[in-house]
Amino acid sequence: MSLRHDMAAASLTPLPHLTTARLRLRPAQPADADALFSAYTTDPEVARFMVWRPHRTIEETRAYLRACADQWAAGICFTYLLEEMDRAGPIGAIALRPEGTSADFGYVLARAAWGQGLMPEALRALGDWALAQEGIWRAVATCDVANRASARVMEKAGMRFEGVLRRHTIHPNIQPEPRDCRLYARVRGD
Ligand SMILES: CC(C)(COP(=O)(O)OP(=O)(O)OC[C@H]1O[C@@H](n2cnc3c(N)ncnc32)[C@H](O)[C@@H]1OP(=O)(O)O)[C@@H](O)C(=O)NCCC(=O)NCCS
Repeated sequence: MSLRHDMAAASLTPLPHLTTARLRLRPAQPADADALFSAYTTDPEVARFMVWRPHRTIEETRAYLRACADQWAAGICFTYLLEEMDRAGPIGAIALRPEGTSADFGYVLARAAWGQGLMPEALRALGDWALAQEGIWRAVATCDVANRASARVMEKAGMRFEGVLRRHTIHPNIQPEPRDCRLYARVRGD
């Protein structure tokens, strides 16, 4: 099983840049710490359903971005920052993690950018790309059962609801115990 994972991760070569109608996606770098700290990493509303707590210092944001860069280099997880075409500065992030023959997605957007359909646009584009790669058959993501906005993102990006994963993920801003999560996926040919 672990060998399969290693092989799938090694064979996936992510694009360094990707564009959609309204967005530019580029790899997250430690130099983005100031911008991300101002945009959303301190915001408790943004962090509410995430696996991390709101950052209190810019060093926490820098450490997160360093981990993103390290994981990209190691082929473990590819985290892109999102920028609007007509405005400089990152407004969010979307991560693609190869898991065997699947690509697992996670995403976050600054509150100021919510409600414009930007994340469905990013998730659809990166999902399209992933499902066109050799060895990747399934694009998958999960969200807390109470996170209706994220469930809508997955639906709008063409993913289908596959069920509830009970006690799947700890979302520490809500409670310390693992919470039930909704599972969505899109497969080749959908
Ligand atoms: C989830 C999230 C990425 C949605 O991205 P988005 O680009 O705003 O998505 P959309 O514009 O397509 O809106 C999706 C849903 O969000 C909700 N929404 C829209 N505007 C909103 C606002 N201003 N405030 C709160 N929720 C809003 C609506 O339910 C909407 O569904 P609808 O299109 O059927 O009305 C964003 O809300 C976010 O970053 N939230 C915090 C982090 C998070 O929860 N990430 C996902 C973890 S699994």
